[in-house]
Amino acid sequence: MTDTKKLPAHLAIILDGNGRWAKRRNLPRLMGHRAGLRKLEDMVRLVKREGIRYFSVYAFSTENWNRPAMEVAGLMSLFRYYIRKKVDELKKENVRIRFCGRKDRLPEDLLEQMKWAEDYTADQTALDFILCINYGGRAEIIDAVNKLIASKPEGPVTEEDLRKNFYLPDVPDPDLIIRTSGELRLSNFWLWESAYSEYYFTKIHWPDFDEAELKKALEDYASRDRRYGGLKNK
Ligand code: FPP
Repeated sequence: MTDTKKLPAHLAIILDGNGRWAKRRNLPRLMGHRAGLRKLEDMVRLVKREGIRYFSVYAFSTENWNRPAMEVAGLMSLFRYYIRKKVDELKKENVRIRFCGRKDRLPEDLLEQMKWAEDYTADQTALDFILCINYGGRAEIIDAVNKLIASKPEGPVTEEDLRKNFYLPDVPDPDLIIRTSGELRLSNFWLWESAYSEYYFTKIHWPDFDEAELKKALEDYASRDRRYGGLKNK
């Protein structure tokens, strides 16, 4: 286990590179997503074992609807498969599954499965596993602003007022955001919540990200000095 004092309470990962992983092997892109899902299942166990309390992943963004219809349909089927086949295991491992994102555009049957999985694991306490599906940071801020306007707030709005209207207001901001596959950007993930997050980038494609890579990222994080705009601790 990594030094718990310097462990992120909330680890977030941008799962990138499934397509390139598949291409390199002359496989269809969807095979890359399948391999990515298998890796994600391992990672949930490892992250829990490390003692991390919140683990969020960017599985489908509000911009991913622009991908070819076949790839979008394949990803939706993968989400269905995962909920149908794997949520029992999560519950046994005391993991709570939560979804984060806009509910519009997602197929009705998938929405029902998502709701079922959330209710079914609502009392699990070891790890909150947060799947960001149809998530966009800008959409989340806009949705929160609209909810606030609808509630007719009195007086000037504060940061806390806005936060209370986010999709998962009880989840702490991500301490560490990992992005695989060499891209150096946030791509609309946890836009507001990442104000003081630490970033870790690796060229490894998501399906090749393993325990050793996770440890490397956590050790790198533990060595950093987070100051939140203050001065260095002497
Ligand atoms: C980005 O790689 C990955 C995605 C858009 C999908 C991520 C989804 C999974 C790993 C499956 C998750 C399944 C569940 C049930 C949560 P990319 O396609 O952009 O790769 P590329 O940049 O190499 O083309």
